[in-house]
Amino acid sequence: MKKQEVILCDKLEKELLYAMGSKSYDKLFVLTDEHTALYCLPVIKEFLQKYHAIFMTIPAGDLNKTVETLVNVWTQLSNKGATRHSLLINLGGGMTTDLGGFAAATFKRGIRYINIPTTLLAMVDASVGGKTGINFNGLKNEVGVFALADNVLIDTNFLKTLDRENLFSGYAEMLKHGLISNVKHWAELLNFSTDEIDYVKLKVLVGKSVQIKENIVEQDPFEQGIRKALNLGHTVGHAFESLSFEENRPVLHGYAVAWGMVCELYLSSIKTGFPADKLRQTIYFIKENYGCFAIDCNKYDKLYAYMLHDKKNTAGIINFTLLKEVGDICINQSADKEEIFEMFDFYRECMGL
Ligand code: GLY
Repeated sequence: MKKQEVILCDKLEKELLYAMGSKSYDKLFVLTDEHTALYCLPVIKEFLQKYHAIFMTIPAGDLNKTVETLVNVWTQLSNKGATRHSLLINLGGGMTTDLGGFAAATFKRGIRYINIPTTLLAMVDASVGGKTGINFNGLKNEVGVFALADNVLIDTNFLKTLDRENLFSGYAEMLKHGLISNVKHWAELLNFSTDEIDYVKLKVLVGKSVQIKENIVEQDPFEQGIRKALNLGHTVGHAFESLSFEENRPVLHGYAVAWGMVCELYLSSIKTGFPADKLRQTIYFIKENYGCFAIDCNKYDKLYAYMLHDKKNTAGIINFTLLKEVGDICINQSADKEEIFEMFDFYRECMGL
């Protein structure tokens, strides 16, 4: 797999000029959703117009990460004369970079693309590492391919327009990167003041976070081994997320992952010896900043059923990534139903439910 160049930008236009200049293309396309068209595109629109960019806008939100929206993008590319030598820029959150990346990877068997993520979640996770795709048949990211963007240009100035919930949703993935990397980074994430965001400090933390993800993806681009470290918190997190949608009380992805990490760190403590003090400190941070997702014991079977259907499982065994210590990763761990129900008991107890 080719290498992806991730750049933490001081001046977005300068880096974009460099990224565009480093490749030859015949036509330039820019994909935004209806929100980023309004709030983010103006930052670079004039610049892009100089290069005769053709703008395409899709509806915002994960509910629109569908095959219909994908067809809409393919159709526009086709009708507006895109060739195999065209270049696509995806400007937006994870929905736009996932769907735009998939459109680029499949149109004429693949055109080059650049991601400019505008949410924290997309900056530290979705836009980096080449996972592209759409939701299908009621399942998240059910259809897609691995296809790296040529460049990912991260401009943390976009974060200043993000609401608190979306900022924290992304921060949960950063916390995950802290847990799978080293104690120093984990501790600085827990000590970051979340009352008043220091965007200069946040930019430094984003840079470190992206580097952690890049290092892992470089070692294992197709998730055969160590890339599974990035699934910490996600086995339970996806179950919380699915339940939240089913019960019409939707939660943001990162929030579900944060609560998923509470559960999976508990499993780590009983199965792989994750230290009690670090469990306590991480849970304290999550409780303070994310609150909790309310469940009672009547939901355990449903959550367990969701976990059984997780696409990361093999042969019906629920697959977890656990930790022995911060930075000491144990992939391909399993837990039985009794342990999983005990984990939910722990979650409810520490969340005061
Ligand atoms: N979001 C996890 C990964 O990219 O592997």
